[in-house]
Amino acid sequence: MGLIKNIFGKKDKLKESVDLSVLRCDVHSHLIPGIDDGSKTMDETIGILQEFKKLGYKKVITTPHTMSDYYRNTTDIILSGRDKVREELMLRGIDLEFDAASEYYLDEQFEERIAKKDILTFGDNYVLFELSFLAEPMALNRVIFELQSAGYKPVLAHPERYPYFYPDFEKYHSFLDKGVILQLNINSLSGGYSPASKKIAQRMIAENMIQFLGSDCHHMGHVNAIKIESSKMIALKELIDSGRLLNDRL
Ligand SMILES: [Fe+2]
Repeated sequence: MGLIKNIFGKKDKLKESVDLSVLRCDVHSHLIPGIDDGSKTMDETIGILQEFKKLGYKKVITTPHTMSDYYRNTTDIILSGRDKVREELMLRGIDLEFDAASEYYLDEQFEERIAKKDILTFGDNYVLFELSFLAEPMALNRVIFELQSAGYKPVLAHPERYPYFYPDFEKYHSFLDKGVILQLNINSLSGGYSPASKKIAQRMIAENMIQFLGSDCHHMGHVNAIKIESSKMIALKELIDSGRLLNDRL
């Protein structure tokens, strides 16, 4: 019931940070240098990864954007970028597991990739995908079906960040009914994106709808926000204590 009270404006912050080491693995970030709007250099990537390690993470699965208009990443580009980061971690003696999948933008090219099975997955065949921030894609249900028919498990990135779903919260339940897994951004919990996305995030936690928690880290500012703000949110503690998260199984 604690969280329900918080939704209605009571105190929503703890004095101490929640121990993030129980998550073990982060599932959403942009840390391959220079291939999307995330980290720009190898030094920046390594600096950010060292902060993840300090927060208690043992593994980071980075997920560069793949989007036909802006980020024309391919499986090869992402995997060779991942290998370079791994090499650098080894050279610098940093003990952190590093892997890569992608955050696929729902567009025609994504459907072509699904048909060809040219998709980077993580864990148990999970595929992270994102939607337009402006309008619900017409093809959404079709693409979910295509993913599942091809044997993939769709994971919708930051559902709390699509404002067109806000007036119809049941829509989120309909995704769960279809077998879509919802991945929340940690920084949504402290209102890092908008007050509205914070409210939706809290409600999703209260209704036990979240199974992956991700940083969506693009730069050092995102890690600092986790460290200073988001790791102290009561909603985060409730989510972790729920035992529903799958992060530690990756
Ligand atoms: Fe992202």
